[in-house]
Amino acid sequence: MVNFLGIFLLLVGLISTPGVFASSPRFIQTRGTQFVLNGSSFLFNGFNSYWMMHIAADPSQRNKVSEVLHQASAAGLSVCRTWAFSDGGYQALQISPGVYDERVFQGLDFVISEARKYGVRLIMSLVNNFKDFGGRSQYVQWAKSAGVMVNNDDDFYTNDIIKGYYKNHAKRVIRRINTITGVAYKDDPTIMAWELMNEPRCQVDISGKTVNGWVQEMATYVKSIDSNHLLEVGMEGFYGDSIPDRKQYNPGYEVGTDFITSHMIGEIDFTTIHAYPSVWLPGQNEEAQMAFVQRWLKSHWTDSKTIIKKPMVFAEFGKSKKDPGYNTSVRDSFLSTIYDSIYKLARSGLSIGGGLVWQVMPEGLDSYYDGYEIILSKDLSTVSVMSKQSRRMADLVHSI
Ligand SMILES: *[C@@H]1O[C@H](CO)[C@@H](O)[C@H](O)[C@H]1NC(C)=O
Ligand SMILES: *[C@@H]1O[C@H](CO)[C@@H](O)[C@H](O)[C@H]1NC(C)=O
Repeated sequence: MVNFLGIFLLLVGLISTPGVFASSPRFIQTRGTQFVLNGSSFLFNGFNSYWMMHIAADPSQRNKVSEVLHQASAAGLSVCRTWAFSDGGYQALQISPGVYDERVFQGLDFVISEARKYGVRLIMSLVNNFKDFGGRSQYVQWAKSAGVMVNNDDDFYTNDIIKGYYKNHAKRVIRRINTITGVAYKDDPTIMAWELMNEPRCQVDISGKTVNGWVQEMATYVKSIDSNHLLEVGMEGFYGDSIPDRKQYNPGYEVGTDFITSHMIGEIDFTTIHAYPSVWLPGQNEEAQMAFVQRWLKSHWTDSKTIIKKPMVFAEFGKSKKDPGYNTSVRDSFLSTIYDSIYKLARSGLSIGGGLVWQVMPEGLDSYYDGYEIILSKDLSTVSVMSKQSRRMADLVHSI
């Protein structure tokens, strides 16, 4: 009898132990300008892999998701940012407003369940600014098709019907019950944070006020249905009208966002920046582009710490094979330089959680490659640069 009970308890224990996480994973939270996990500071090194749900929608491709999460985990990468949207078109999650493809949703269930298994936290974005995978343009198109009077894609931020579509999508995703784990997304600590939108931009109002109004409304809504998870905007970091002096750090133009005011919103838990110097400052040499990134990182870090008083994540940066003069060692040294800067800022007060490189991809997904892809099983010198950063960020927590 005793032995049977022992074996039974052992089996229950094995089944309920979610991989690398300690017995039962906790939610990542913030305290002042730091991320915290179970009472300790949380620092990380991470990556972007937007393609995961799309690929996992086809069960015969799911091994690619597992493979990448496994390799990432081995390289100490503990946070992954990915898309929880695909609006209209091929492999749509949301086929039309409020209509979902269960097969694709099960792909997202798989991504979350595998991330949990490999001890990787997810930041999940709810819509795209750009047309890839639908985006706000698709939302505006849906409204137009339903007979709603709309002028242009920026009506996404102000039209009540379209805002209703977005809220409904946020609700469907957040309240989803994972068919593999049985855990509602809103109750799953594998998810580190929701992101309102990938890289919001707005042409009709360059001041940042229109996007800011949308962020306030949607942040209030998301927090009303999920108070467990952190929330961030998804911004690139462009400064707007609130502190005109800061515009000197923009790459010479604005995109209709205000980094300061939108991150001051109470429901937003941390700030984000992205940096694509070769796209934003074409024609400038490597040195000038790197100097821009350093200023960009430093000014946003300072503002996050002293004005906004929230932690920051450097949520997208990478080196494209399409850039002039590219070779692997150029990429490795670009990443090393950024990692050094992140590490130094983290060391001086822990108020930057970490960086998320754009982007990690599996082998054999060539049609998804955009020049920035890092294949963990092949790009060994780059993996070694990434692993080093993972280790020292983790060590930094322990040395405090
Ligand atoms: C959280 O911290 C406590 C006290 O340090 C520890 O006993 C517990 O095992 C930790 N829980 C997890 C899930 O790591
Ligand atoms: C890569 O490019 C850099 C800068 O152009 C150059 O100095 C270096 O020799 C190149 N390395 C290889 C391995 O080709």
